[in-house]
Amino acid sequence: MSATGRTAYAVLLSGFGSNLQALIDAAERGELNSPPSLIIADRPNAQGLVRGKAAGIQTRFMSPAEHSTRAGYGLALQSALTDAGIDYVVLAGFMRILADEFVVPWGGRIVNIHPSLLPRYPGLNTHRRAIESGDTQHGSTVHFVVPELDAGPRIAQFRLNIRREDTAETLKQRVQAGEHEMYPKVVQWLLEGRVELRDGHTILDGKRLTEPVTFPG
Ligand code: GRF
Repeated sequence: MSATGRTAYAVLLSGFGSNLQALIDAAERGELNSPPSLIIADRPNAQGLVRGKAAGIQTRFMSPAEHSTRAGYGLALQSALTDAGIDYVVLAGFMRILADEFVVPWGGRIVNIHPSLLPRYPGLNTHRRAIESGDTQHGSTVHFVVPELDAGPRIAQFRLNIRREDTAETLKQRVQAGEHEMYPKVVQWLLEGRVELRDGHTILDGKRLTEPVTFPG
């Protein structure tokens, strides 16, 4: 809980931060209860840190190199999050595997956005892999984070049709435009307590989801 008594969330990122910007902008428009209370980057030159500072948000670069183990870095993250009164962790392009010791206690309070229609293409180079496989559809998934990489219960998916002329780059741009619509909405569901993880399943408005919510709706 933040100092203002609001449900507080942190964004963890490594790079450009366009999804962070979408959250900041949605809060500005009143479509999201609040912007993040804290932004943590694992790279000192992450553009997301600049975006956060410009929005007046507390930002921190936390260097993984200062810790000899994944678990040690997780402990440092944990203490930063606790100090800031964080309730939810929102991963937005955080290019680092988190220790199980970190992820498990945050179960149900940590989400990620992954640029593929999970369970297809966990890991990297998702846009290229979708094209090379001859897929007709591609997109992005918001899911709860569990120790297994890109494998947690899915909450929502943005879907688009792959065009014949699409390259990995055009696909990435179109997928990211969809992410910027989807992620603020899902984060708002979290902040409102509408979505939760129960017994390994996503519950939205009290009902167990058998499939992720699809965007555009
Ligand atoms: C997004 O496409 C997200 O799906 C993936 O990393 C990318 C981050 O982009 N996890 P940005 O830093 O938010 O612009």
